[in-house]
Amino acid sequence: MQNMTIGIIGAGNMGRALAAGLGATPGGPHALVYDHSGEARQRATQQGLTVAETLAELVAWANVLVLAVKPQHIAALAREITGDVAARHPLIVSVAAGIRTDALRHWLGSDRVARAMPNTPALIGAGATVLYAPPDISAGDRAQVEALLRPVSALWWVDDEDLMDAATAVSGSGPAYFFLVIEALAAAAVRAGLPEPLAVELATATALGAARMAGTGTESPAALRRQVTSPNGTTERAIQSFMDQGIMTMFATAVEAARVRAAELGRELGGL
Ligand SMILES: NC(=O)c1ccc[n+]([C@@H]2O[C@H](COP(=O)([O-])OP(=O)(O)OC[C@H]3O[C@@H](n4cnc5c(N)ncnc54)[C@H](OP(=O)(O)O)[C@@H]3O)[C@@H](O)[C@H]2O)c1
Repeated sequence: MQNMTIGIIGAGNMGRALAAGLGATPGGPHALVYDHSGEARQRATQQGLTVAETLAELVAWANVLVLAVKPQHIAALAREITGDVAARHPLIVSVAAGIRTDALRHWLGSDRVARAMPNTPALIGAGATVLYAPPDISAGDRAQVEALLRPVSALWWVDDEDLMDAATAVSGSGPAYFFLVIEALAAAAVRAGLPEPLAVELATATALGAARMAGTGTESPAALRRQVTSPNGTTERAIQSFMDQGIMTMFATAVEAARVRAAELGRELGGL
């Protein structure tokens, strides 16, 4: 991280999460964020982030560029920065869903390209990120990609670029699934008679505790679940109800729908 100057392009939810986590703050000299929307730049400034006023300023300063705009906007952004990329040859990391490295290389006119699929918990240093780089990327560039994201996230490399679409569906979109579960549990708690603030706090604290237990990795999630499920007890009734209603199929179908959408984005937007 020491010699890295990180320029994050796009100050939306993901760009701001990464910028905050990577120290794009006054006194955190390593990262700058830029957005073409004045409103987004203002929001980032209000959040305490260090914001470049122009794309040219950011690109002239950074030796690592993070592309954090919507997949639909990556090609246009790449066209805007090709001149500087040719002149300065930065390492470029795209976090865009679906957009493949061969398309990125073609648009950017550079081979120093990698992909990362992070998620918004990076904002609080608790991200889960899957990485992919083409086989010809140097070991030094791979190490830089890791150093870039390690401060905000756990990291996993995949060798098959198709798996980035699966990662997008699981961990990229995944925080939303868990927020939905917390939302649903809290709503059920209210129906069961608990007052709303307590319902939300209980659901959230339970999710956090369960995730931390699962995160120790000492026992599988299924084993942990069985430990809470006494025969003929309350949990067993609830779990049976979930199973009867097809919770496993619901997750499988939802994740597959997201994976297919990521692959579609790549085909729709990345056609060369
Ligand atoms: N959100 C997530 O949880 C998540 C997780 C993993 C990966 N990602 C990936 O992260 C990327 C960004 O997602 P997001 O949810 O943060 O999107 P977003 O909220 O739309 O943020 C993107 C920002 O970039 C701006 N922008 C677009 N083109 C630009 C350009 N040429 N130069 C400078 N700024 C530009 C947009 O402005 P306008 O609105 O004016 O276009 C917008 O403010 C996506 O590719 C997504 O696949 C997101």
